[in-house]
Amino acid sequence: MPKYLVTGAAGFIGRSIAAALLHRGESVRGVDNFISGKRENLAGLEAMEFLEADLADLSACRQACAGVEIVFHEAALASVPRSVADPLATNRNCIDATLNLLLAAREAGVRRLVYAGSSSAYGDTPTLPKDEEMPPNPVSPYAVAKLAGEHYMRAFARVYGLETVVLRYFNVFGPYQDPTSRYSGVLATFCRKMLAGEQPTIYGDGEQSRDFTYIENVVEGNLLAAAAPAEKVAGQMMNLATGARITLNQTFHILCELTGYRGQPAYAAPRAGDIRHSLADIRRAEALLGYRPLVDFREGLRHTVEWMRSAAPHG
Ligand code: UD1
Repeated sequence: MPKYLVTGAAGFIGRSIAAALLHRGESVRGVDNFISGKRENLAGLEAMEFLEADLADLSACRQACAGVEIVFHEAALASVPRSVADPLATNRNCIDATLNLLLAAREAGVRRLVYAGSSSAYGDTPTLPKDEEMPPNPVSPYAVAKLAGEHYMRAFARVYGLETVVLRYFNVFGPYQDPTSRYSGVLATFCRKMLAGEQPTIYGDGEQSRDFTYIENVVEGNLLAAAAPAEKVAGQMMNLATGARITLNQTFHILCELTGYRGQPAYAAPRAGDIRHSLADIRRAEALLGYRPLVDFREGLRHTVEWMRSAAPHG
């Protein structure tokens, strides 16, 4: 029986965590329904036991959790604008799926569940950096759905003694992030377009900023969260980011250097549900996990461009 379950194993973050576990020689089961995950992301993960199933179905969650000790719950329908277009789908794939998974995990005797939370929980409050003591202020259906999952985590820790750990991710990017969807993260979209010589579009004036976090940092945070002593982390929530922010205009200029793109960006109206600035206080993850970012923004972007040059799908 595998020790670890990774949900969303065919998605960007899930497949990256699964790959790191396999690399350490761990036994892993992955589950995905391919609603946004990609079959080609499973290449290189052949040692993983894979289950194609939908977590909104409780019996699938039971099958996925059987015999497992630790779960990384990365499956979700990511994207703020997608949730604005279809809040029911976000609710089903985030909230329903998460509650089913928690119920199945409890029944199966899973010891720990590490949950992919989202910085969108903070909303558009002007205070920076965002620390975990700030009251949540979700402004999009996506933020509501990811935050509901956090509350369920805490409740299952308190009521049933499941060791839940919530990691609030801030704008994760890197290899295997899908660059072809209209709901793709901005860096994946910009890398793909600029490598192809196409003009990227900046929504708003480009002075909005993000704490863009390279995937390797997120994988590291997850592995630390799985291994940390229960008395430190069970029932806890913490930011997982770099503690630095950069504007979209600055990002565009760095990507010009890395991709060789010579044009200017197009500017369009700001996007509905967008927040202006985002920056994490990462001291709690440092204190509880011993976490420190391993890869900085520019280096992460360089790896991402290299990967996209060689391997990524170009749609
Ligand atoms: C949000 C959440 C993040 C979540 C992610 C899931 C916040 C702070 N972050 O990211 O936690 O994991 O959704 O999708 O709420 N943009 C362009 N041109 C493009 C695409 C995007 O200018 O072609 C702009 C957007 O308008 C936005 C910024 O880039 O201002 C970042 O957008 P995106 O990558 O979609 O992520 P967030 O919405 O910040």
